[in-house]
Amino acid sequence: MRKNIAVGNWKMNLSFDDAKALVSELVKVDVPDNTDVILGVPYPYLAQMNEMVSGASKVSIAAQNCHEKEKGAYTGEVSTGMLSSIGINTVILGHSERREYQKESAELLAEKVNTALAAGFRVIFCCGESLTTRESGQHFDYVADQIKDSLFDLDASAWKQIVLAYEPIWAIGTGVTASPEQAQEMHAHIRKQLAEKYNQDLANDTSILYGGSVKPANAEQLFSKEDIDGGLVGGASLKAADFSQIIKSF
Ligand code: PGA
Repeated sequence: MRKNIAVGNWKMNLSFDDAKALVSELVKVDVPDNTDVILGVPYPYLAQMNEMVSGASKVSIAAQNCHEKEKGAYTGEVSTGMLSSIGINTVILGHSERREYQKESAELLAEKVNTALAAGFRVIFCCGESLTTRESGQHFDYVADQIKDSLFDLDASAWKQIVLAYEPIWAIGTGVTASPEQAQEMHAHIRKQLAEKYNQDLANDTSILYGGSVKPANAEQLFSKEDIDGGLVGGASLKAADFSQIIKSF
């Protein structure tokens, strides 16, 4: 049975003090049953935030990236081994911002996914189309290809460690949310790809999150859709009151 998941993606926001204040509020939230809360925290805060959530069984911490190599002469980079050594075992990969600004390709992402899985990580893998792609009617194929190109070499057993996040680029940070119907339509399409490539059980067991301007006002409607298993939340995850309300929207 798949889980409901609320991921907060802080991106490059919050001072250390603000981060501590936010997490001290979030660990008090009464998280619904069958629900995980995951906070995507900047590298320098990971160890401290991980310690802060240690008493909250449904709250865990994720890195927002990792390097594709295990170690070596890669100045400024962070490996999965380093993350595991401070107790971090979840990573967000394939976010559209990294695809765009860091030029992360499907091949590189496949490599990162393999490295993370080999290190025992859970991977939150993002996909999603631009407005131009949607307007050209290519969005279903585009998103299916993103998943196929980076993830379809994986064995079925590896999918226990994968969470997908559909994040239409036109909805990220814009205040424009995909309608629950638009999101549901894409989530069902993604699940169908998994069923066709692997099997229906694997498709049913994979959590697929929606991301892009999720707010307290729209979370419940989105999460109530059959194939939407939660949210990857940027802006609204920076405010304790807003993110708490989103967590309670399942
Ligand atoms: P947003 O970001 O909620 O601020 O739109 C979502 C994301 O990029 O993960």
